[in-house]
Amino acid sequence: MTAQPKILAINGSERDGNTADVLRHAAAVAEARGFAFEVVDLRNIRMERCGPCGDCNDRTISCAVADGVPEVVAKMIAADGIVFAAPVHGFGTASLMQTFIERAGVGYLRFDRPLSNKVAGVISVARRYHAGEVWSQLTVNALLNRMIVVGSGFPATVHALHQGDALKDDEGLKNVERLVDRMADMIELLREHRRLTGRDDLLSARETNERVGLALNEQVRK
Ligand SMILES: Cc1cc2nc3c(=O)[nH]c(=O)nc-3n(C[C@H](O)[C@H](O)[C@H](O)COP(=O)(O)O)c2cc1C
Repeated sequence: MTAQPKILAINGSERDGNTADVLRHAAAVAEARGFAFEVVDLRNIRMERCGPCGDCNDRTISCAVADGVPEVVAKMIAADGIVFAAPVHGFGTASLMQTFIERAGVGYLRFDRPLSNKVAGVISVARRYHAGEVWSQLTVNALLNRMIVVGSGFPATVHALHQGDALKDDEGLKNVERLVDRMADMIELLREHRRLTGRDDLLSARETNERVGLALNEQVRK
């Protein structure tokens, strides 16, 4: 029996608010498809900001800061698909998600790109302004991690100001539904290929640590 496919969602909001509502909506879609859907609320994770060490470009091992980030990274590695969901703050990504991207991305994921070929979906939640820019930033980070980003038609940007508003944005929620459905389709497709070929490494992740050999690093080594 194959394990139930799983989507993990990372919620970058400080509250049980609009982003959480959107993810509950997403969960219902995933669960109707037979998927497990778990949300990691970054507000409940003990997460330090990047420290003053600044040696990320030279380290060949994971970040030395001890907190809850490696546990979340392990959950991401165990999932088939990952949704990155964050509110817009000050025209940018809310700071919890920004910190997570820095700590998880630079501190752990860049060494061997363990999220390669996992299916990614991105949701931004905003009153209105710069929802697209935050969506783009999160999408580029998923691509950086060599994930397979599926389209949902129009981007899954949800417009909401006050608590409860997200559930009134029918168009935004429709895009979220399409996104989760397409993620489920792609995960099923990849699983089926794995089953038929008996291969786990369906797509090569190519070389792993792309920083090795960068001009910047060569200069540092001299
Ligand atoms: C500190 C702060 C800054 C915000 N900045 C923006 C912004 O630049 N653009 C925007 O459209 N909405 C902005 N908002 C509105 C939030 O994106 C919106 O209320 C969203 O629904 C919050 O999601 P949440 O309830 O999941 O935290 C801001 C909200 C806060 C608290």
